[in-house]
Amino acid sequence: MSAVITATDLAMAFNCIILLFLIHQLKAEVTPLEFYPGERIALIQLREAVKSPVIDLHSIWIGPPCHNSDSNWVGITCSNSHVISIVLNDFQLRGELPSTFLQNITYLKLLSFRNNSLLGPLPSLSGLVHLDFVYLSHNLFTSSIPLDYITLPNLIALELQENILTGNIPPFDQPTLTDFNVSYNSLQGAIPQTPTLQKFSSSVYYNNLQLCGKPLANACPPPPINASPPSNRPKAKKKLSVWNIILIAVSTALLPFLVMLVFVCYFRKMSLLNGHETDDDKSGDLAEKKMKNTGGEPDPERRVELQFFDKERPMFDLDDLLRASAELMGKGKLGSTYKVNIETGSTIAVKRLKEMNGLEKKAFVQQMQLLGKMRHENLVGIVSFYYSKEEKLVVYEYVPCDGSLYELLHEARGTAGRFPLSWSTRLSIVKGVAEGLAYLHESLPSHKVPHANLKSSNILVSHHSNSNNNQIYLTDFGFLPLLTTRKAALDKLSVGRSPEFVHGKKLTHKADVYCFGIVLLEVITGRLVPPQRHDDTSMDDLSDWVRSVVDNDWSTDILDLEILATKEAHSEMLKLAEIALECTSEEPEKRPKMDQVLTWIKSIK
Ligand SMILES: *[C@@H]1O[C@H](CO)[C@@H](O)[C@H](O)[C@H]1NC(C)=O
Ligand SMILES: *[C@@H]1O[C@H](CO)[C@@H](O)[C@H](O)[C@H]1NC(C)=O
Ligand SMILES: *[C@@H]1O[C@H](CO)[C@@H](O)[C@H](O)[C@H]1NC(C)=O
Repeated sequence: MSAVITATDLAMAFNCIILLFLIHQLKAEVTPLEFYPGERIALIQLREAVKSPVIDLHSIWIGPPCHNSDSNWVGITCSNSHVISIVLNDFQLRGELPSTFLQNITYLKLLSFRNNSLLGPLPSLSGLVHLDFVYLSHNLFTSSIPLDYITLPNLIALELQENILTGNIPPFDQPTLTDFNVSYNSLQGAIPQTPTLQKFSSSVYYNNLQLCGKPLANACPPPPINASPPSNRPKAKKKLSVWNIILIAVSTALLPFLVMLVFVCYFRKMSLLNGHETDDDKSGDLAEKKMKNTGGEPDPERRVELQFFDKERPMFDLDDLLRASAELMGKGKLGSTYKVNIETGSTIAVKRLKEMNGLEKKAFVQQMQLLGKMRHENLVGIVSFYYSKEEKLVVYEYVPCDGSLYELLHEARGTAGRFPLSWSTRLSIVKGVAEGLAYLHESLPSHKVPHANLKSSNILVSHHSNSNNNQIYLTDFGFLPLLTTRKAALDKLSVGRSPEFVHGKKLTHKADVYCFGIVLLEVITGRLVPPQRHDDTSMDDLSDWVRSVVDNDWSTDILDLEILATKEAHSEMLKLAEIALECTSEEPEKRPKMDQVLTWIKSIK
């Protein structure tokens, strides 16, 4: 009996072993499939397309993205060997997303790139039927909202606020969509009247170029002819009323520039400051005036906000601004700049752009929105802006400073009141300039010439007696796309003097490098750069000037007398002179890139 049992036992045990073996075999076949190669390829495309100063995906995203339901890749979550979420927030990621890279990540549920510096078009999400949550807010995306977003059947959240998106809002009507935000973009047109889009509060649509219709207070203009959707009086009316306010304010103010500033500072989205004349009616209150002008109907949107880039800053209302005092800080070729003290204690700087009458609102707004996102310790931040046909204002943060590099280098030379700039101060200044410029070049790759107006008078210096503690701010950057004619660019911007521009060739980032080289030469030699002339020969003066410096064979003869005594630093000075020489090459291709220049300058000390 026991023997029989034993035999049965043996048979069973044998069966078990076979079974285990089979299971093992089966498993061995399954194990390699811990991830799907198509998904890995997609993520590698992403890895190659973006870079970040705080995280190096190249060294982290290696091997398989998924081990069944685990992942070693930062930001990636897997389930059943599939990638189901990508979350890369706050990493200062730069670059353009590959347009269709998500296509093969078919089980994706969550996509989040919040608060980065991603450029270019929004990614296509077509076919991602499992996608629930999409967070792409606070980036630099510039496309319109892709139509395929309205076909996502399970979409719960779509956050696109704080980008530079253009075009109309597509008619989203997924009942699942409960979290939606497109504020702080450049969208325009009517908000589609779908139940889904109408259930959100107006705040999700605020601060766009020209959105209209419910739930916003401003109705859309009536369609041109074959009228259909009901709408009341549109934009034109609003503009008129704003205009009227401005006129009244102008006529009541004593100092025209003060008035202007007031408007500039009027951060709530009134329209603009419109110069001089016309309205003769000097009395009465603004609201009344406004109503009069618009045919007696009250304007529903008396307090539209102008875009404010940094929402942590205090905002002002018109009354504050009317009471603001202003002081002329400087006149440049692009316009005059004023320092404005708001009663609440804030100080801002306002630049009134000259002669940009041909400039379209859309172009201006988009450029300002883009520039408003530039944040770097060596750039003067743009806080807000104001556009009207006749008037364009740029509101900058106010940076307390001792003067421009131009003033510090050249003013009061040879007099008792002069404080010469030491060599170490000069070196720290050019390093700050190079950092700011390299940041602009990296952040605005699509701009032909990101700064375009670099010169010593546009470099502000906060100069502390401790020379290692200088603060440097570049200003007046980003205006090239706003100048509609070659002539205007030539007259107003320092890149107008680069050899390639003068010879009618294509402008690139290297034109900024040229201008930077000129600044370096100015710092090293202490010599004044010849003034710009208003004709096409202006560049000969500059070339001659560069050549006259270069012809000294890079001996210490070229050095500014004020730094010549610092003998121990002569070799550093000549090294900087070498860099200046590279930067001022006549041929743009021979000039180094800005990040290279920065590395060289950093290596000097
Ligand atoms: C955005 O990310 C930066 C770091 O990259 C962080 O300092 C900042 O606080 C973030 N902003 C928001 C609004 O989360
Ligand atoms: C997705 O995968 C298919 C086949 O695996 C491939 O042919 C296609 O190029 C992939 N798509 C993308 C955008 O990588
Ligand atoms: C939409 O985004 C803006 C800008 O980030 C924010 O101020 C606003 O509160 C958001 N609205 C909602 C309803 O979340």
